[in-house]
Amino acid sequence: MSFRHLIDFGDLSREEWEELYQRTAQIMDCPDAFMEANKGKIQANLFYEPSTRTNFSFQTAMLRLGGKVFGFADPKSSSAAKGESLKDTIKMVSAYADVVVMRNPKEGAAKAASLYSEVPVINAGDGGHMHPTQTLADLTTIMRYRGSIDGISVGLCGDLKNGRTVHSLIKALAKFNDIRFYLIAPRELAIPEYMRVFMRSHNMRFVEVTNLEATIPMLDVLYMTRIQQERFDNPLDYERVKGVYVLTRKKLSRAKPNMMILHPLPRVDEISVDVDDDPRALYFEQARCGMYVRMALLMDLAHQPHKLPAPVEIGTCPKCHNPRCITQSEVYLPPLTKMVGGTECCAYCDKEI
Ligand code: CP
Repeated sequence: MSFRHLIDFGDLSREEWEELYQRTAQIMDCPDAFMEANKGKIQANLFYEPSTRTNFSFQTAMLRLGGKVFGFADPKSSSAAKGESLKDTIKMVSAYADVVVMRNPKEGAAKAASLYSEVPVINAGDGGHMHPTQTLADLTTIMRYRGSIDGISVGLCGDLKNGRTVHSLIKALAKFNDIRFYLIAPRELAIPEYMRVFMRSHNMRFVEVTNLEATIPMLDVLYMTRIQQERFDNPLDYERVKGVYVLTRKKLSRAKPNMMILHPLPRVDEISVDVDDDPRALYFEQARCGMYVRMALLMDLAHQPHKLPAPVEIGTCPKCHNPRCITQSEVYLPPLTKMVGGTECCAYCDKEI
């Protein structure tokens, strides 16, 4: 693979995804053959936010490959609680480990970490921004059950504003042909403008709708998401939209017989428990696929040589105005920007400058 860090699905080419999927399929078919593939390798799991699937599946992925894992699941148990900067933590940890897996509530935190790491950094979720390895799990599930990704109609339903898994999946599907998106959300939780800019600049077809039931018959994949309570500044705003979409067995009666129901999990109430036994409900299988594709990823990234990062400019004032951007709290970060479809955007969190 040509990429060193996995920060955003844009880091992978379609060919690299296909190579990764081939390896994932081999591991799924014969996991015992890979029991020593990462023997002697050490992974650091830095989870500044709660997680069940991503943290544990990355841990088990490395253990199943014969490697070892250390880290924290609560930043209060690390020196971050004493005020240590992200830069200093990453410089230390990347000297101890062969690969760093990090989840952080700040948007762009993984990109920031990659500037100071001597080993590959994997973004395990940065605030409401991106979650590329969840996307690997999503694509693996679609491939295993459908055999191809091109040409599908995808309904993304729920919190499209704060749902990092949705943003990563859209970025990934830009690499495939003839994808149609139905973005199902109330106005308050609509997809961020920077994602619209991305979709338009990649000539992606999308419509924004509010009615789940009316949209279901059109879909090959329905991707449900949780309303992300922890990202709301005002609890009353959450109260207004919670429970807005609930997929029930009754609503599924209008769906295609082979429509795939995906959800990155955890769910709260957006998929009724009576859907779980429907053969189209693949969300638990999706979480299992996530472990295997993470194994395939770690077989590459944990073997890359340690390399001291090049010195970077010391920032004095953040250029990005997004209050959730990592540059707002880690003010030494260089004020990096990039152009997306003619718009200047923050290179950490993707928001328009
Ligand atoms: N899908 C996902 O990221 O789940 P966790 O928050 O449990 O890791």
